[in-house]
Amino acid sequence: MEWGMANRMSKLIQSDGRCLFLPIDHGYFQGPTRKLEQPRKTLEPILDYADAIFITRGVLRSSVDPDKAKPIILRVSGGTSMVGKDLANEGITTSMEEAIRLNVAAVGISIFVGSDYEKDSLLNLSKLVDEGEKYGIPVMAVTAVGKELEKRDARYLALASRIAAELGARVVKTYWCENFDRVTGGCPVPVVMAGGPQVDTELEVFEFVHDGIQKGAVGVNLGRNVWQNEYPVAMIKALRAIIHDNATPKEAQAIYDSIKSKKKKQKTA
Ligand code: 5RP
Repeated sequence: MEWGMANRMSKLIQSDGRCLFLPIDHGYFQGPTRKLEQPRKTLEPILDYADAIFITRGVLRSSVDPDKAKPIILRVSGGTSMVGKDLANEGITTSMEEAIRLNVAAVGISIFVGSDYEKDSLLNLSKLVDEGEKYGIPVMAVTAVGKELEKRDARYLALASRIAAELGARVVKTYWCENFDRVTGGCPVPVVMAGGPQVDTELEVFEFVHDGIQKGAVGVNLGRNVWQNEYPVAMIKALRAIIHDNATPKEAQAIYDSIKSKKKKQKTA
């Protein structure tokens, strides 16, 4: 691996082989999503605990100070919205020159395997990889399912993740699912897990993240289940413990509960 590529990869995946990416890119198709209405406000308390952030250029420029930033994974696909015809019909929104100007550690793009735009999104990935490899910039492929959340099973996610790796993605972001080892086992590049919409309890998040790590994921790219939580700092610290300190879900829950109760006391004092 070229020096530049290796250096950028090491900014993403830490020396223990694990990573906690924090995505706040959701506005690029969802608009001002709940708790991400003001990205700067959402990000400030939790930024220090992330290994990298996944973000668009607009929010990066407007809401992250360059002297306090973490490694950036720049979201460079888009062009569709929740209210448009088909979320899968994405194009590349940001040039590689812009990514270099923003001094990114990686760029990220969604692929929509099985959709009407499968071929377009896969060719977009391939072109982005060609450009990224020229300059030593890794591409993270996001196996997106649009509004069809029920697609998230091992058979589909293993297929989509493998295709992303075959086309040259250096990291694959996919969803956790039952039998997650089928996904990691068939994907020759590091796999990180997204969370999807917020789930009912913190413990559910800790359990799936822990399970995914045991089954070969190198970490997470977890957004709504962190910053839509009432206690996002507690949530991200508990997740760090699972990812970087091998905490169990129960230990993570104890970390969450203790930070939450301190925060509650501060609020009532
Ligand atoms: C949507 C994305 C997000 O980065 C990804 O889905 C992770 O966020 P969450 O954990 O909230 O699903 O690609 O734009």
